[in-house]
Amino acid sequence: MDIRTNIKTVAVFGAGTMGAGIAQVFAQNGRTVLLQDAVPGLVEKSIGRIGKILDKLVTKEKITADAAKTTLANLKPATIGDAKGADLIIEAIIEDPGTKRELLTKLNEIVDPDVIFASNTSSISISELAAASGRPEQFIGMHFFNPVPLMALVEVVVGLQTAEPVVKAIIALAEELGKTPQRVKDHPGFVSNRVLMPMINEAVSCYSDGVADAETIDEVMKLGCNHPMGPLALADLIGLDVCLMIMEVLHRDLGDDRYRPAPVLRTMVRAGLLGRKTGKGFYDYER
Ligand code: CAA
Repeated sequence: MDIRTNIKTVAVFGAGTMGAGIAQVFAQNGRTVLLQDAVPGLVEKSIGRIGKILDKLVTKEKITADAAKTTLANLKPATIGDAKGADLIIEAIIEDPGTKRELLTKLNEIVDPDVIFASNTSSISISELAAASGRPEQFIGMHFFNPVPLMALVEVVVGLQTAEPVVKAIIALAEELGKTPQRVKDHPGFVSNRVLMPMINEAVSCYSDGVADAETIDEVMKLGCNHPMGPLALADLIGLDVCLMIMEVLHRDLGDDRYRPAPVLRTMVRAGLLGRKTGKGFYDYER
């Protein structure tokens, strides 16, 4: 089986928070990034935001003006068809299995057979997506963390049929990006969300049980457990809809009631209180 390991051009599908962060990291590390999103105008908006972040980093003298210019020039709005020129596909679109499957099936027809497909999914089975991709041996999870440019971890999720050279190539690539990859098996929630989400869910239950207010719950975990931010502030950062979806996957796929989503989490999602992205979750945010 041939696999392409010389990665110069990366096609990133999805220009939301995660996709844009992933695009920034690849572009800062000298790769041409073809950025695509189904929502009209989102790619341009995300590239504009990255430009502002880079300007700030220049002002703080963390990067040079030349590096910022090169990074920005590496980011190119693209269409699905442009993926033909990619050496790696990163899928970071909405967490909907059907939409992901449809995109992957389409991409399999366009992209050269030696190109690895990596998904940033935080909750959907890598083996399931791999089956839809038509290239299960060249399919892998490359799970980044929010905010992508600041977080060291890439959880490398190995599907049932992922070939060993593909695992090695993605681990090497993550290291080239300055990340610290950790290899895990495809299993509900992988390691990160199997451990993190029940903690967040429990914090939400503490909140709805009236054990303490949101600020107090967060301070307890920051001061008592040395977490950089409290679980409710973190839920707002991740998105309450994403947290709920991951709890639902754990509950359904592990079949254990200890993963039951806190009812108030569901109510807040139904009310459109999704955290930072909607301006309101457990806290209020300026938009
Ligand atoms: N690119 C590069 N640098 C950036 C940046 C970007 N996009 N954004 C900010 N920075 C720089 C800032 O300029 C800043 O520089 P200075 O130190 O010179 O000021 C530096 O990075 C730190 O920025 P902040 O002051 O905002 O950072 P902080 O110290 O307040 O930490 C935090 C912020 C990293 C978010 C920290 O609170 C944290 O680690 N929180 C926990 C985050 C977490 O757990 N994420 C995982 C969520 S789970 C997930 O993502 C996966 C899933 O499947 C759900």
